[in-house]
Amino acid sequence: MRGQPTNSAAQPRFLMCRPRYYAVSYSINPWMDPQDWAAQGSDLGEAAHREWAALHAALVDKGATIECVDPKPDLPDLVFTANAAIVLDGKALLSRFRHPERKPEEPVFADALQAQAGLDAVDTLPGDMIQEGAGDCIWDSYRGQFWMGCGHRSDRAAANVVADYFAVECVALELVDPSFYHLDTALCALPTGDVIYYPSAFSGEALRAIEERVEPAKRVALDNDEAAQFSANAVSFDHCLVLSSCTDAFRRKVEERGFTVLTTPLQAFLRSGGSACCLTLRLDHRS
Ligand code: ARG
Repeated sequence: MRGQPTNSAAQPRFLMCRPRYYAVSYSINPWMDPQDWAAQGSDLGEAAHREWAALHAALVDKGATIECVDPKPDLPDLVFTANAAIVLDGKALLSRFRHPERKPEEPVFADALQAQAGLDAVDTLPGDMIQEGAGDCIWDSYRGQFWMGCGHRSDRAAANVVADYFAVECVALELVDPSFYHLDTALCALPTGDVIYYPSAFSGEALRAIEERVEPAKRVALDNDEAAQFSANAVSFDHCLVLSSCTDAFRRKVEERGFTVLTTPLQAFLRSGGSACCLTLRLDHRS
C-alpha cells in the first residue's frame, strides 16, 4: 500500500522543504543563472513544484517518513535541507553558511530541527567556523565514518569538530572543481560499502584518501556526463537509489551491486546546483 513501509528497519526519516519560494535569484555556484531563470517566467517554478512532489511521493512510497520545514519568502535555497545540519545518533550539529545569501536559513533550520526532528541535542559549531551540513558531510554506514568536503563551502578544520562531536572518524576531502562545490554533488556512500564518486572533483590528496579506504571493487567512478547529471547526488535506502537521471552504464553498475535505480527528474533544481540528495536531510542515521 502506498506510504506503508515494508519493514521497520528500512524506514528512514527525512527533513524536506516544499519549493514554495524556490527560485534562482542569486548566483553562488556555476550552475545558478538568475537571468536565465527569470527569462523562463513561471514555467520553471511550476516544474520545481511538480518535480519536488514526485520526489516526495517516491520516498513516501518506499516507506520513508518526511518532516517538512515551513518554506520562507526570500529564502529560495531553503529547499536544500541537506545543508541544514549534520545529523547522527539523535544529535545535530547546525550548519554555518559560507555565503551571506544563505545565512538567514540558519535560524530557520535551527528552529525546525529543535521543534520537529525529535532529536536529543541540537548544537552549533564553534566560533565562526563554516560547515554546510550533511550536503558537505556524508555518513558512510559501512565504514562507520563521515566523509567531509572542504575547499569551497566548508572549512577543513570542521572535520575535527565533527569527529569530536559525534565520536566517529571524519575524513576531510578537498574539492577542486567549482561545479562540484558540495561533497554530495560528487560522492555517494552506499550501505554496501560501494562509493560512487567523480574523481575530477577531488584534489590528488583527497583521491588518495578515498582510494586508501575504498577497495577497487567498491569504487564506482563517474565520467563527466554522469557527474553533470548529478547522478552522485542520490538518496539511497533499502537497496534503492533515488536520483534525477543517469546513463544506462551507471544504472548497470549500480544494479550489479544489488540496488534498484529509481529516476525522478529534478531539472529545475539542477539550475541551482542541486538534486535529490540536496533536497533531503536524513534524520535517523545511527553509528
Ligand atoms: N543553490 C544552493 C547552493 O549553492 C544549492 C545547494 C545544493 N545542496 C547540496 N547539498 N549540494 O548553496
